[in-house]
Amino acid sequence: MRLLPAILIGPLAGVWADRFNRRTTMVVTDVIRFALFISIPLLQTLPWLFAATFLIECASLFWIPAKEASIPNLVPRNRLESANQLALVTTYGFGAVAAAVFSALSFVNRGLAHEFSFFRTNPVNLALYLDALTFLVSGLTILGLPQLSSARPRGLAAQDAQGAQGAHQQGLVTSLREGLQFLSGERWLRGLVLGVSGATAAGAAVIGLSRVFADDLRGGNAAYGVLFGTVFVGLASGMFLGPRAIGNFPRRRAVGVAIVCSGVALAVNAIVPNLALAVLMTGLLGFFAGIVWVVALTLVGSEVADELRGRTFAFIYNLMRVVLLVAVAAAPFLAGIIGPHTVTVQNLRVRVDGVTVTLFVSGVLAVVAGAVCLRLMDDRRDVALRTDVLAAVLRRDPEQGRGTRAGYFLALEGGEGAGKSTLARSLATELRGRGYEVVLTFEPGDTALGARLREVLLDPSSHGMSPRTEAMLYAADRAQHVAEVIRPALERNAIVVCDRYVDSSRAYQGGGRDLDDREISHLSRWATGGLQPDLTVLLDIEPEEGLRRASRVGESDRLEAEAVEFHRRVRAEFLTLARRGRHRYLVVDATQQPEAIFERVLARLDEEALPDLPAARTTMTIPLAEAPR
Ligand code: TYD
Repeated sequence: MRLLPAILIGPLAGVWADRFNRRTTMVVTDVIRFALFISIPLLQTLPWLFAATFLIECASLFWIPAKEASIPNLVPRNRLESANQLALVTTYGFGAVAAAVFSALSFVNRGLAHEFSFFRTNPVNLALYLDALTFLVSGLTILGLPQLSSARPRGLAAQDAQGAQGAHQQGLVTSLREGLQFLSGERWLRGLVLGVSGATAAGAAVIGLSRVFADDLRGGNAAYGVLFGTVFVGLASGMFLGPRAIGNFPRRRAVGVAIVCSGVALAVNAIVPNLALAVLMTGLLGFFAGIVWVVALTLVGSEVADELRGRTFAFIYNLMRVVLLVAVAAAPFLAGIIGPHTVTVQNLRVRVDGVTVTLFVSGVLAVVAGAVCLRLMDDRRDVALRTDVLAAVLRRDPEQGRGTRAGYFLALEGGEGAGKSTLARSLATELRGRGYEVVLTFEPGDTALGARLREVLLDPSSHGMSPRTEAMLYAADRAQHVAEVIRPALERNAIVVCDRYVDSSRAYQGGGRDLDDREISHLSRWATGGLQPDLTVLLDIEPEEGLRRASRVGESDRLEAEAVEFHRRVRAEFLTLARRGRHRYLVVDATQQPEAIFERVLARLDEEALPDLPAARTTMTIPLAEAPR
């Protein structure tokens, strides 16, 4: 009776939350539930108990998405996680409180039954009345929150004003289709749904099997109680303490990582032979699952637009409900089919009974689901996961990285006279011709501030500059460059072609000046917030040849004036970096003709996923006179 509504009308309830006044929906469903709860003890029949349960569940289905979708409009974004924590703790953490209240109530009931015959029939009645009352209180509270009224956010209201069709005017089916389209179109949401289902199934397997598992550990009823309780204590503490525990760890990654961790805890739990360890693992499992829930809800709340939020929450909730119930029921069934077996490996008896196998397999499945979820949700592909973990452990801010992937970042590197600028120009012309916005830029000195730093850096009169000063000035120029030019361009979805970047520092200051490469790399990462090129083209040339070419152009600057030996070290360092970062590099022999080099790089760019730009489609309509040069 509790599962059926989710399957039958679950999707409709989500659409409802996006189409109608959410406050009215909540108040009305609260009053309905109030009435239904009261009716159960009044009517006192089994069929009505079933019917009422079904109806209450239906009402809840409308209430939950309306509530979830409203919270992000009630609290500022940076407090959304705390709001969700509170909501979850009061939902799931109150099981224990409820048990205590129930005991207290039955005590009171006994007293009342003495005086009034009304309370003699069934001691549960008082609890049901109290329960009914809580819905009335909830309804009245929500009635007092006029700021909840809008089911139609500004965007849609504005659309209405222009006479466009708002979501509330669409047919139900259209809204539903739109919701599903949105869900399947968002890669990160697909990851989230998959991951959370995996975690829920794993948790449900534990709940379904903890009875038998406790017996297997020879713990009996007491152990069962402890194991069962531990899942919930773990869940509540994960919800409550988790967000603080993981600090600034990037949230999209946190979901996948927490799912993997809960899967590992479950798999270990399955094979541990003793109760104390099992309790620990079960607690950890719950803890990580709690983190998954809070973080996932907050992500949906803050990243899904208001007009789609109700449907999104409804979909996730209904799916979880189905997964939970199916898994709770299926786990013991599976375990039963497998049955008890033991294998003896060199005098050691290993249990391979149904419970162990089922729990272990669930754990492994959760790990897989978590890993896939991590991949699908990852928005920081240029920052290593371990860097984020380390930063969280050390309580540092995570590296900024690229953020949501946008644009394309190409860096050109090489020694003196390698022909980077020529290549950069021809690439820019070609790509602009294809309709891309191309930002052609260089280091050092392509900002107003950077130009002054460049003067100091390259002027031969700065010859006494210490290597560390030099390294920091290049890094300072780069920090300004990234903040002022590169990041904004990438956010606009442009292609950035940058003449020299981090690798120049690693090669010149690290290789050439003999500073520690790790320090240089750390300094640059700090300066750039971890922004890395999608591809680095290294134009490789013998220093003698390169310097000869460069000297034809004009006077040599402070770095060109260094001994050939210095430039050899620079070249060697460039080649080492390219060898280490294989996938992100293209090494080209710079003694070839410029056209050959250009073709080679262009061929590689054609293989890369260049951003899909609206600009690429508008080229046809740009009048010739205004076409990008
Ligand atoms: P530039 O005239 O732009 O050199 P090129 O035309 O060879 O690219 O001058 C940049 C000089 O600065 C070049 O000699 C390399 C050096 N450099 C560093 O030593 N470290 C760095 O981080 C960067 C960006 C450049």
